[in-house]
Amino acid sequence: MPPKPDNCTIIIFGAHSDLAARKLFPSLYELALWGHLPDEYRIVAVGRSALSHTEFRQKVYEKMAALFPENVQDEAALASFFARLFYVGVDFTRSEEYHALHKEIMEGEAGLAASPNILFYLATPPALAPLIVRNLDHAGLGEKDGLKGSWRKIIVEKPYGSNLQTARELNRVIGEVFHEERIFRIDHYLGKETVQNIMVFRFSNGIFEPLWNRNNIANVAITIAEKFGIRDRGAFYEEAGLLRDIMQNHALQLLASVAMEPPVDFSADAVRDEKVKLLRSIRHFTSQSAEGTVVLGQYEGYRSEKNVAPDSTVETFAAIKFFVDNWRWKDVPFMIKAGKSLAETVTEIVITFKCPPQNYFGPAESCCYTANQVILRIQPEETIAIKFGAKRPGEALITDPVFMKFDYKTSFSEAGATPYHRLLLDAMAGDQMNFIRQDSVEYSWAIIDAIREAVGTKPPASYPVHSWGPESVAAIYS
Ligand code: BG6
Repeated sequence: MPPKPDNCTIIIFGAHSDLAARKLFPSLYELALWGHLPDEYRIVAVGRSALSHTEFRQKVYEKMAALFPENVQDEAALASFFARLFYVGVDFTRSEEYHALHKEIMEGEAGLAASPNILFYLATPPALAPLIVRNLDHAGLGEKDGLKGSWRKIIVEKPYGSNLQTARELNRVIGEVFHEERIFRIDHYLGKETVQNIMVFRFSNGIFEPLWNRNNIANVAITIAEKFGIRDRGAFYEEAGLLRDIMQNHALQLLASVAMEPPVDFSADAVRDEKVKLLRSIRHFTSQSAEGTVVLGQYEGYRSEKNVAPDSTVETFAAIKFFVDNWRWKDVPFMIKAGKSLAETVTEIVITFKCPPQNYFGPAESCCYTANQVILRIQPEETIAIKFGAKRPGEALITDPVFMKFDYKTSFSEAGATPYHRLLLDAMAGDQMNFIRQDSVEYSWAIIDAIREAVGTKPPASYPVHSWGPESVAAIYS
């Protein structure tokens, strides 16, 4: 078992958010159950409504029972968790109300009883983040107000800002209250076992890296597809759209992991330096270059979803052909496709190698039928497959594509931690490896802003539910 983090109080803004109900409280409960939380911890949920601790605990219990019934079986463990869960009602926009939070932490059961260390978690819409941070500072809850020898850190949920300008402003405001080493910009994809394994696969094996470049690789295709639509997140989606929700963060982080150079060592900053270098090498989009390399789509029926404008032009799908202008990747297309209401729920990275120079074993048009591929399946299956050609048994010399496969489930008996388990613990321990650094978030936004500008007001193409996106997507893969 990893060493336990320091005793601390975890303060969650956005107590009533979907994220808190689905991920944060269940993950914290499970960490407590497994004995991975500090000996002395407190959780303070902060939301707008006025509720007592008991009323809030009841709400969390009901959500947990509905979403994760297996989590409410152990009454003693639940009681111990709820005894450490507190609630404070604060109107985030009113600075004077933060004093109630300060009081709860300084004088109430919630705070110093555990320790002077505080981990803030902003599970709130991006526009609120600067305001909350400023108000924390005014209320004496910033990093500089901590006791000597203690720490105060902050986790900020994605989307981090809504464009380069707002992200810079947020970086500036947070940077005035917390040092960069205390800021944890979360992208839960980086907590996934299979995403962390991309670097291990590339850099702990001698046979792949020598081939991992433009001399041998024809293209890289990344897919983040979800069969379900926006669910009940209409209001959020109208603000965000697919580019901000998935492309700016999860998709670009996958691209960076698969294409970055080997870091000088395996420290958080060395790894993040390489990711930033990669993002900086992505070819700039202009309205001219976006023609045929950027396709945005919207699923049929999106405009009838709850809290969606009847004439909405928000994209629920994007397929983009990126180029990375560096020595390793120049002119190799990286095709990224992501969307809601697609044919399948699957996240994968397919690296396709160039065909052999001569095709002895099949008709000319099938030259690439057996092109080698490395297929990194991130989810739902957690597998890596290598595709190659093999002779079909029999007298005729016919080649068929076959696969060599590694599957996490069959190779390892223990189940991996989920992203939120892992990242919550990493933040408590101060490990920033799997969090986004300031420069990285800004370069990612610069890429997305340029794409948005290049596309302009052109409305997204419509696509049928449970398809693979608009027809025009074919252009990206040609
Ligand atoms: C979130 C997005 O960050 O990631 C959602 O806001 C998306 O729209 C989700 O569905 C996907 O995460 P996962 O881990 O379920 O693939």
